[in-house]
Amino acid sequence: MTTVAATEPVLTIAGLNVGYGGVPAVRDFDASVRAGEILALLGPNGAGKTTTLLAAVGALTFLSGSVTVLGEPLDRRVERNARRGLTLVPDNRGVFHKLTVSDNLRLAKRKGGAELSDVFEYFPKLKTLKGRRCGNLSGGEQQMLALAKALLARPKVLLIDELSLGLSPIAVKDLLPRLRTIADEQQMAVVLVEQHIDLALAIADSAIVLHHGRVALAGPAQELRGQREKVEAAYFGLVGDEAQRSSTGLVGDEAQRSSTGLVGDEAQRSSTGEPRESGETDAAAKVVD
Ligand SMILES: Nc1ncnc2c1ncn2[C@@H]1O[C@H](COP(=O)(O)OP(=O)(O)OP(=O)(O)O)[C@@H](O)[C@H]1O
Ligand SMILES: [Mg+2]
Repeated sequence: MTTVAATEPVLTIAGLNVGYGGVPAVRDFDASVRAGEILALLGPNGAGKTTTLLAAVGALTFLSGSVTVLGEPLDRRVERNARRGLTLVPDNRGVFHKLTVSDNLRLAKRKGGAELSDVFEYFPKLKTLKGRRCGNLSGGEQQMLALAKALLARPKVLLIDELSLGLSPIAVKDLLPRLRTIADEQQMAVVLVEQHIDLALAIADSAIVLHHGRVALAGPAQELRGQREKVEAAYFGLVGDEAQRSSTGLVGDEAQRSSTGLVGDEAQRSSTGEPRESGETDAAAKVVD
């Protein structure tokens, strides 16, 4: 197996443009994750989060750009990338509802992979549920099973799509710190797609906010934790093109807006939490960083 120096990223995505039927859904995406690091990938519905994960495991053909895993280019075959240590937990969790917990785990076991006893250490509750049909588990228990199955492959890079989908905030608060522990102890790089911004930033090392397929904000989680408004603005598409313009030099009203952030109706809405009307264009109300 290829090894990389501890300081080198185990996953690097550079200039990625990827989509469907030749139409890009994600544009100019860059990211890198080192062993033991968690990258939170945030963004509203349709932002391109799942597309990015699918591209990173080799399930979608890129329009352009590159993905490097453990110092080598991504293979065209998903199963090869899986053998090299890339594991995706899909948003449907990838568990077999008609099978028991035990059978789900046995099917996921790999030669040279982790032992069941190893994954039960992280998720002891699964041990007590071994004989239960997966379809009769709670959402949180199913998600534990999905993570346990993924861990059996001893991934170097674990990509998780919507860990908290359908889970109560309590279940999410329970699961995310465990993921942090797993990343630390297994020195596993994690890309985590999450809807709970604060909970994700609390356990992540870095974060990227996607909006309409573009990176609206990226940075160390430690910095972004204290910048809730900035993160929300990126999440709702209130930064981006406009910010880019600011770096090229704004004039007049545009410069004024740049210093104040939100403008007009948007500022009002932002303070009231009121959503934008459909049909309103992004260009009509953007925040300059
Ligand atoms: N199979 C597909 N064929 C065509 N377009 C697709 C396909 N899958 C996704 N898209 C489009 O690509 C864009 C990004 O979708 P993607 O599923 O990556 O978003 P997402 O951020 O994961 O959203 P969500 O939070 O709803 O899961 C959307 O505009 C979506 O409609
Ligand atoms: Mg998705």
